[in-house]
Amino acid sequence: MDKKNIDWSGLGFGYIKTDKRYVSNYTKGAWDEGALIEDDMITMSECACVLQYAQTIFEGLKAYTTEKGDIVVFRPDLNAERLANSARRMEMPVFPEDRFLEAVDQVVRANAAYVPPYGTGATLYIRPYMFGINQVIGVKPADDFQFRVFSTPVGPYFKGGAKPIVIKVSDLDRAAPHGTGFIKAGLNYAMSLHAIVTAHKEGFDENMYLDAGTRTKVEETGGANFLFVTKDNKVVTPKSDSILPSITRRSLMTVAKDYLGLEVEEREVYFDEVKDFAECGLCGTAAVISPVGKINDHGKEICFPSGMEKMGPITQKLYDTLTGIQMGRIEAPEGWIRKIL
Ligand code: PLP
Ligand code: COI
Repeated sequence: MDKKNIDWSGLGFGYIKTDKRYVSNYTKGAWDEGALIEDDMITMSECACVLQYAQTIFEGLKAYTTEKGDIVVFRPDLNAERLANSARRMEMPVFPEDRFLEAVDQVVRANAAYVPPYGTGATLYIRPYMFGINQVIGVKPADDFQFRVFSTPVGPYFKGGAKPIVIKVSDLDRAAPHGTGFIKAGLNYAMSLHAIVTAHKEGFDENMYLDAGTRTKVEETGGANFLFVTKDNKVVTPKSDSILPSITRRSLMTVAKDYLGLEVEEREVYFDEVKDFAECGLCGTAAVISPVGKINDHGKEICFPSGMEKMGPITQKLYDTLTGIQMGRIEAPEGWIRKIL
């Protein structure tokens, strides 16, 4: 198959329209059979629930070209499950998990010419999403919904790729206790827009959000979970009911334990102890593992010993093993890789 003429290695994390996307509509209490379509535009009522009350949820996963030349996706069953959990919390119908996998397969197959070749550092980002589409003016959920999946080739989420980034402690909160931080709802990202614009204006790459209740514990960033490494090489990740259960983070904890023989801990992490860690990274589908070199807490800097030039040694091992599994260089645990082509 001929690939598109794209400068794969020069890609950033942006949107490029691909050939086909998947659409299924939910009306009268049932999902229709769904189809691939060419039209990337959506027409809806001015009073659609998603436009007025932000009833929308999404997922993010990637297709990779392996060393052997296969096209695979990484743990898409967990994205299907998480979208179902998001739907339940947002009073939306669940899109059946087996159909989610089938829709992802169809979109990747139809856009195979956009899946970046092995070794370019780029991947095909897949964005499943669902929203309330009928008119709603009193505050209540929609009755009709649309589920879609589009794809776009992407490079690194942070400019500079694997170079350590600098983040700030945000004064604004992203998610409330007993709120929606644990699901992937558009509203959580709307909450973070002012904070990310502010952080960028001040010269930072991202925000560290603290728990909204006490502002003493580390939560996550706008688009990734945290991983820390202690001075004695233990991998620590924050536990909280108001952060997204990252599939990358859950996978990395397994990689750390079973592939690298490291001790791992998922527990509350107090901001006060962050200065004592040896390494810090952000992990997620888009972020992969992005090393953090410095955290700015209202002018006071926490500088990790791993520095501003490269990833710390444990972060690097985690990165190499995870991407090795995704690209087929390292054998994956049972069920982690879905081969599409
Ligand atoms: N946290 C937030 C807020 C995110 O948006 C994401 C991205 O999906 C993650 C964490 C990482 O999750 P995953 O590893 O499943 O992509
Ligand atoms: C992802 O990693 O898939 C995300 O959704 C993070 C961000 C791009 C919103």
